[in-house]
Amino acid sequence: MGGAARPADGQGGPAATGRGRLAGKVAIVTGAAHGIGRASVVLFAREGARVAAVDRDAEGLRRTVDEASGDGPVLPVVADLGRAEDPERAVAEAAARFGGVDVLFHNAGVMPEGNALTHAEADWDRAMDVNLKAIFRLARAAVPHMVVRGGGSIVTTASVMALRGHRDRLAYVASKHGVVGVTLALAADHAHQGIRANTICPGTIDTPMLHRVLDALPEAERPAARAGFAALHPLGTIGRPEDVAYAALYLASDEARFVTGAVLPVDGGYTSLIV
Ligand SMILES: NC(=O)c1ccc[n+]([C@@H]2O[C@H](COP(=O)([O-])OP(=O)(O)OC[C@H]3O[C@@H](n4cnc5c(N)ncnc54)[C@H](O)[C@@H]3O)[C@@H](O)[C@H]2O)c1
Repeated sequence: MGGAARPADGQGGPAATGRGRLAGKVAIVTGAAHGIGRASVVLFAREGARVAAVDRDAEGLRRTVDEASGDGPVLPVVADLGRAEDPERAVAEAAARFGGVDVLFHNAGVMPEGNALTHAEADWDRAMDVNLKAIFRLARAAVPHMVVRGGGSIVTTASVMALRGHRDRLAYVASKHGVVGVTLALAADHAHQGIRANTICPGTIDTPMLHRVLDALPEAERPAARAGFAALHPLGTIGRPEDVAYAALYLASDEARFVTGAVLPVDGGYTSLIV
């Protein structure tokens, strides 16, 4: 484990040119302006990758680039991944700047609230486009680059809500179950090209997505709500963005060269027991 990445052996990327677990690799990370995506950009850059950091939030991306500065080139790409043309453009910009693509980490996501009676159609469509369809569009653009490299790694962020149901998250639950499905299908379709595809199912993670849920509550109720989230996880805490970023790092790296089609909970044991 650790140390410099091996030369290309069907796992993508040229021979290592520097130090780190992703040395020599080009990675695309989406949802890079906040939370899990930001932590992943910082970690991937520290581990030697050249990183295209993709998000619709230009100001947030600037802070991500600042945080990663000194650890290798990070290219900010402002893109709305719910729009038809933006995923392909993001991949093209990454490939043009860095000369190829080895790793695609689709992590951007939105979590509208609603059920069959209350969801606006626009919320359903947005969740499907950003959380799910963007993977199809990004993969369509990135896989040919990975084939040229002799392989690659696709990592997606699903959720514990990709493994279970949840009240008032109809579109989110549906889209995240789809994330698992499309990742397994990508793993099956592209294994013969040396391309691996795996998905991570985070439990509750301390990011702006959680903060928005808490902020919707009266201020006096927030500490108890936060403690309630922590109590759902057998390890007794909510996760940090880095907890997910480290899982993505492993799956992106050649250390996971024999791992594809994996559905990995990073959830403090949340889905391991019946409450
Ligand atoms: N935080 C949690 O508790 C939790 C739990 C399970 C799964 N997840 C998943 O983890 C991923 C990252 O979430 P997070 O917690 O870091 O959330 P976050 O809201 O903190 O960050 C999400 C990022 O995605 C970006 N984004 C949203 N829509 C976009 C679009 N159309 N185009 C480009 N960028 C877009 C946002 O600007 C933001 O930077 C998401 O897929 C989320 O569903 C989060």
